[in-house]
Amino acid sequence: TSDFFADKYLENQHWVITAGPTREPIDPVRYISNHSSGKMGYAIARAALSAGAKVTLISGPVALEAPIGCQLIQVTSADEMHQAALAQATDCTTFVACAAVADYKVANIASEKIKKTNDAMQLALVKNHDIVADVAQLKDKPFVVGFAAETQDVEHYARGKLMRKNLDLIAANDVAKENQGFNSNDNALTVFSSIDKTEIPLANKQQVAKQLVALINQHYQQKHKVN
Ligand code: CTP
Ligand code: CA
Repeated sequence: TSDFFADKYLENQHWVITAGPTREPIDPVRYISNHSSGKMGYAIARAALSAGAKVTLISGPVALEAPIGCQLIQVTSADEMHQAALAQATDCTTFVACAAVADYKVANIASEKIKKTNDAMQLALVKNHDIVADVAQLKDKPFVVGFAAETQDVEHYARGKLMRKNLDLIAANDVAKENQGFNSNDNALTVFSSIDKTEIPLANKQQVAKQLVALINQHYQQKHKVN
């Protein structure tokens, strides 16, 4: 394919990418999770690999083949993903947080299967660590890219997350629109930096990933440019 001749413009870069959902255990047989398929994160991993980067993919449980040539770290819960991400992030140039991390975990995981006794039950939840925000707090932080899946006021919420989490870029998608985002094969992104925004129009996730990887590299080069 034409990719064989493509410029290996990410040679000497190490990308760490989180992908997929997390699962938060309730008891030995149950969990809380979400509909993330992992497709976007895996597509970014493939695009970065084909541009010559070393790629570490930290993945929650998904039904996808690992891209050939990447280092795959499989995790289940947000706590496991947090631990793996912080361990890898000190040694990379670029960190891309594509995972749909569960915002909360169960406060007290039952050690035995919970029986249905009462007519109603309540589950106490506590907030998970914010993985991408913690990576962006590291002393020698890599170039940090987040995602924002929003159903309304996309630019407002995405820019809020960019600032609050101290990110270099945030890729926002409007999940209220049909045929893009969660579990879909297609996606459209609006990528915000603190000073500009770039639209990546609706296309299949592999094409979108290719454009996003090139855009991330442009901003990375800009940031590291010696004046
Ligand atoms: N993220 C993360 N760790 C979490 C929650 C989110 O690393 N515990 C990352 C996601 O991978 C994504 C970005 O933060 O890159 C934004 O995730 P999102 O769910 O849109 O934002 P939240 O900060 O969780 O806010 P909310 O769900 O309330 O919109
Ligand atoms: Ca969230």
